[in-house]
Amino acid sequence: MPTEERQKKLWGGRFSEAMDPTVERFSASIAFDQALAQYDLRGSVAHARMLGATGIIPAEDVDAIVAGLDEIGSEIEAGDFPFDPALEDIHMNVEARLTERIGPAAGRLHTGRSRNDQVATDLALYLKDAAKAARLGLATLRGVLIERSAEHVETVLPGYTHLQRAQPVRLAHHWLAFEQMLARDSGRFSDLAARINQAPLGSGAIAGSTLPLDRAHTAAALGFERPSANSMDSVASRDAALEFLAAAAISMIHLSRLAEELVLWSTAEFGFIELADAYSTGSSLMPQKKNPDVPELVRGKSGRVVGNLMALLTIVKGLPLTYNRDLQEDKEPIFDSAATLGDCLEVMAGALATLRVNVAGMGAAAQDPMLLATDLAEALVREAVPFREAHEVVGRVVAHCVEKDIDLRSLSHGDLQAFHPAFSAGSDALLSLERALEERSLPGGTARARVREALDVATAALANERATLNPEEQR
Ligand code: ARG
Repeated sequence: MPTEERQKKLWGGRFSEAMDPTVERFSASIAFDQALAQYDLRGSVAHARMLGATGIIPAEDVDAIVAGLDEIGSEIEAGDFPFDPALEDIHMNVEARLTERIGPAAGRLHTGRSRNDQVATDLALYLKDAAKAARLGLATLRGVLIERSAEHVETVLPGYTHLQRAQPVRLAHHWLAFEQMLARDSGRFSDLAARINQAPLGSGAIAGSTLPLDRAHTAAALGFERPSANSMDSVASRDAALEFLAAAAISMIHLSRLAEELVLWSTAEFGFIELADAYSTGSSLMPQKKNPDVPELVRGKSGRVVGNLMALLTIVKGLPLTYNRDLQEDKEPIFDSAATLGDCLEVMAGALATLRVNVAGMGAAAQDPMLLATDLAEALVREAVPFREAHEVVGRVVAHCVEKDIDLRSLSHGDLQAFHPAFSAGSDALLSLERALEERSLPGGTARARVREALDVATAALANERATLNPEEQR
């Protein structure tokens, strides 16, 4: 059927003119919302079956509709579907194709339904899957962080605050910090998916339907807990999408920080790691260069994912109830954030799994005696000196060492007592890297046993997450 005729059929009797081609191009969403095709078909099958079960449309029409939708599904999968921008969006493309395939029975599918509750349903189904995909990607990266951490419990490096050397830490402790961030990210995706538990279908364009639809039937068929409580909320709201974009943005910020460290650590100045050749690029001009483009791109792509959240917040802000066409602009940010986060999780997992750790380089940096200055102050606290006083005293000890260019660990008992009589021994006896790590044995600290415990806890939490994501593997 020629486009103009297909279009008129769907718009119905109110229209006598075809759409201006500029408007057609401007308003069509089919180029991107075809990503919703499988969800749209699922929603339509559930809706058609409900219309049959309630006797609103005849059973033989339901059979024809379901069979036709099934064929359309195969056509789309095979890449043979004739997507037509004149038909605006995925919903109208499918319906027009169904009409071509099964004839007038197709005209019964849209009974008691609007594209407004239809697109809200498609999006809810999409977001549930996208949240699960994000959790799977996060689980893979968490797994790599845990594995690499297990290899590096004995690898020590300076921990930093303000990018200044602060206190010594184990590399395992450092990377497990990122694992914790990603575990919470996963929690955010699972929380938001759990809130998408109300089916919009049956809300119609805005106020429901005069027809005896069975909303509980479609809700159950599509895996929702119940029909939505308010038809206007159902077609107007996009907060589930906003939550998804926010969770994706937070995850990307975590990846960006991890990426930044990989960039920094692979510099000659730090020299803490070397990225695998497979995860690096060369320079077209400078033959010696090995560039960390992969983490740089991850860091850069966090910008667009943050932007996607800002875009949808801005789109929704100030919209009067209920549906407004502005809401069509929700889709590209959502699809882009889902795809970008998925890609970034995958390459970061690969980059981390394959990078080489310069254990000796980290160890040498961790030998900086100044990393132990806090421990000297705490040695005074153990002798009942108030911490503020101890901090001030050790500050003067440090200034003295810097001025005279001497090692903080080489002060005799007498040297230290010149600063405070409560010092119980020379700094050599009071300070050691091993003790700095081991004596921080509070929960969440750097002691070997605590880090091993943290590894076990993270491993168990990840196994639990994987079991939740793939319940069939559990049996
Ligand atoms: N393509 C539209 C969207 O994504 C579907 C809903 C259209 N509804 C309408 N009343 N024009 O939002």
